[in-house]
Amino acid sequence: MKKLALSMVGILGIALMTGFAVSAEEEAPNIKKVMATCMKGGLCAKVANGQANDEEKAQLVAMFNALSKAKPPKGEAESWKTKTAALVKAAEAAKAGSEGAGDALKKAANCMACHKEHKPA
Ligand code: HEC
Repeated sequence: MKKLALSMVGILGIALMTGFAVSAEEEAPNIKKVMATCMKGGLCAKVANGQANDEEKAQLVAMFNALSKAKPPKGEAESWKTKTAALVKAAEAAKAGSEGAGDALKKAANCMACHKEHKPA
């Protein structure tokens, strides 16, 4: 009986932990998360090179949408809007399979151009 009670506690604990993990996952990704996944992580390059599957393309669109809604730690809001809108547009075009979308995506994902304006030193 004691054993049963203990395993119940264990199961409850796991359920709670997974619950937390899921809610953290559902939170809108912030700039650093988008950078880690799409830019440094290579998801954007994979989509740009035409090597991504539909799920990955959809993930990139969602990530860039979140990026466009995030507030950059530095720089003009107008500049951020233009740069992130270009990323969203190119990712959506790649998802739709439009010709030239990969090149547009590579052009929009200009690391230095954006970091110079918006990334704190
Ligand atoms: C549309 C603008 C934009 C583009 C394009 C961009 N970045 Fe960033 N990146 C940022 C901003 C803003 C930050 C700073 C985030 C912060 O400090 O909150 C950042 C931070 C980073 C960081 C540090 C993240 C951390 O955890 O501190 C890395 C690594 C990075 N970018 C990689 C890249 C690479 C590689 C590319 C090109 C393939 C790229 N980024 C393109 C805006 C951009």
